[in-house]
Parts: sequence; C-alpha cells; structure tokens
Amino acid sequence: MAMYVVSVKDLEPGMMVAQPLIKQGGVPLVAQDVVLTSPLIEAIGRHGFQQVLIREGNEPNETPPSLVSPDTDREGRRKVEAVFSEVISKMTISNRDVEVLSNLMSSVMEELSRGGPLFLGNLKAIEDMDRVTFDHCWSVAVLSLALYRKAVEEAWVPLGSFQDGVNLGLGAVLHDLGKLRVPPEILNKPGKLDDEEWETMRLHPWYGLELLRSQPNVMPMARGIVIHHHQRLDGKGYGPRQSENILSGEAIPKAVRIVSVADVYDALATDRPYRPGFLPWEVLKLMRSSVGTALDPVAFGLLEQVVIPFPVGCFVLMKGGEICMITRSGMDHERPSPKGAPWARVLAVMSSKKGRIPGEVFEFLSDEVLLGATTLRGLAWRVARELSGVSEDLASKLSISRWAIHAQWKERIAKAFSGEVPH
Ligand SMILES: [Fe+2]
Repeated sequence: MAMYVVSVKDLEPGMMVAQPLIKQGGVPLVAQDVVLTSPLIEAIGRHGFQQVLIREGNEPNETPPSLVSPDTDREGRRKVEAVFSEVISKMTISNRDVEVLSNLMSSVMEELSRGGPLFLGNLKAIEDMDRVTFDHCWSVAVLSLALYRKAVEEAWVPLGSFQDGVNLGLGAVLHDLGKLRVPPEILNKPGKLDDEEWETMRLHPWYGLELLRSQPNVMPMARGIVIHHHQRLDGKGYGPRQSENILSGEAIPKAVRIVSVADVYDALATDRPYRPGFLPWEVLKLMRSSVGTALDPVAFGLLEQVVIPFPVGCFVLMKGGEICMITRSGMDHERPSPKGAPWARVLAVMSSKKGRIPGEVFEFLSDEVLLGATTLRGLAWRVARELSGVSEDLASKLSISRWAIHAQWKERIAKAFSGEVPH
C-alpha cells in the first residue's frame, strides 16, 4: 500500500501508521498498522516526533527506501543535534564532540559498506526550523558517504582505507559548523540577503575552520571540506579568506566536489522557513543547470544514480490540473534499475475538462508534471505562490470550490489549500 508523510500537526484520527514510532531509548510508542486516535496524536506530539508515515490506498506495497536504517537515522540526528547544541552554548568544539561524530560516521560507513543498492527516497517534513541546520549536516554526511561509495565502485576515486571514508563523513557533517557563528536572523532570513549580511554568510566556511583549529583529530581532508565546500568548478566560489586560495576545476579535491553536490541537493530538497522543499525530480533539474560551472559532472552523475526522482508518498500537480499522490516510484529498490514509469493517484482535479477522475491511478512521464512537494501543504503553498497571477484562466481553476475531489481526501485537501504557511 502506498505511504505518505504527514507533519504531526496535520495528523487526524483514523489515519493508519505505516512505520512504528520509537521513543528515545528504543521504547515503542506506536506500533505499525495502528489507527490513530486523538490521545495518540497528542502523545506523538509530546514526544517530539516531527512527522509520521501514513498508509493509504490499495496500490502495491512500496516502502520509501532510505540510505541508512531508521534506527541509525534517528540516533544520528539526535547525536548531531546534541553535539551542535553543545558547540552553540560554548562556541568551541571539544575532543569529545569530534570523537562522537567520528564514531557516528564509522557506523554510517559500516552500514553503507555492507553493500546493497543505494537509494534515497524517504521524505522529510520539518516543522521545527531550528533543527534545519542539524538535520542538514546529518543528511549531507549520509548522502556524501553514499556518493563516496558509488565513486569508489566506479573507480572515480581510489579505494581508500575505512578511515578515509570516516574523514570524509566528518568533514561533511561539520561542513556548515561555522554557520553556528552566523546570527540566526541572517541564516533564516526569507528572501535576499543585503551586501553586509551576505559578507557575514560567506564567512561561514572560515568560521568553521577557525572552530576546528585546536582539534588535532580532525584530519586535513575534513578541514578541506569545511573550508572549500562552496568552491565552484569555474573558480567563482567562496570560503578561504585569501582570494589566491580559492580553488577551481581539478584543483578542488574530489571529496570536496562530492560533498558540494550532496550539500546543494539537501539544501534544495529541505523545507525552509520561507519555502517548502522541492521534489527530488525538481532538485535534479535545477542542479543540472549548474553542472560544469559550479558542480562536478561526475559527482552529479553519482547523485542521479542514488536519488529517486518521484518518491512514493509525495505530491504533484500535473499539467492537466490533477493533484496527485505518487503511489509507485518506478524504481526497483532491490536492484539499482528503473522498473517502469512512476504511478500517481488522482486526489483532485482542478480542470472541468474531460480527463482523469479522482481515484484513478495512472503511469506518467516526468514532463507531465508541473510542480511537486513532499507534503500536501507544501504543494498547496507552491500552487498558491507560483500559479496565481500567471493567467486569469488559471486563477479561476485555483478556486477549490470548482474542483472534483476524491471523497477520502476532501478534508485534507481543503485544509491544505486554505492555509497560508509553507508546509
Ligand atoms: Fe555551507
């Protein structure tokens, strides 16, 4: 059965939980297949969960794949948040902090080196924007190590020692460490930064390196990632304070090029205070336009092999006006190959023209898709922002009272499309 991700505050009694919710310390809070009640929803919120995977419909079973196990993922996020909170309060990073992060990267490396296909297809719905930086650092580290494994398999980088991988992961998890010194009002500012704010922002790789200066256990590769992660192939990047230390092309270490690709991917795919994250398919499309100028083509090619463009459970608006949920990704999770086109189920239809009807499941090609988002509210936000005002014809279609909506989705669609917030 298809699954989709719901932010905790959008949970409703009657929804069925698709993946068990485990509290800190490994104690289960809600088992799989449990139907939610109001007290349970309250408890889920109290225990600090951000999102829940919900089961829906009768389509073939496909669990969105993630690069590491849910346990490793949860532990990793928790530890990164704990270390970074410590660094924020002390404005210094201790030997112990570095040790915790190195051990964490060892466990990710161990898990990834067990083999098996590498696929990234899980969805995130972040409510708590204070956690975006921690979350980003963790996700970039895991994705970088997955790309590194691919790079070794394809002999783009030589097979190094296990410790080389740990060092790369450590650099990736620390890449934005210096952002902890950038004032939050600049970090989270919606819209463009002014010149002065941008100057401060551009210092974050340098701040990161400064914080690591007294750390003998952070190897040069990891330091290189921290200072150079905003370098571009065309040499127009930033990081080092001396302009002669700005790198370009082949002079940028491959480890840095790998982390840069993972960094840009995660930044675009993640919700921000001022916009919901883009669908992987749109992220890849956006990134493709800077391959060769900013991003390394080989490192980007590795990303394309790992990322699932239309993960199960995300939402799209088709050019024909259908609002749909993805019910099959079209990727074979057991083997790294496509098994056909993705499928979507129609939840609502904006246009009154004859065409697809609510409830219908169909195969689609990516050029049929207009917009996407990981949550229904994210899609609603993008539809309101990006389509209203484009044309009168379109504006009239945006009035929800004219839509044909699947009976089971009426309330959720009405709620999502009447809200103002970007989730
Ligand atoms: Fe950065």
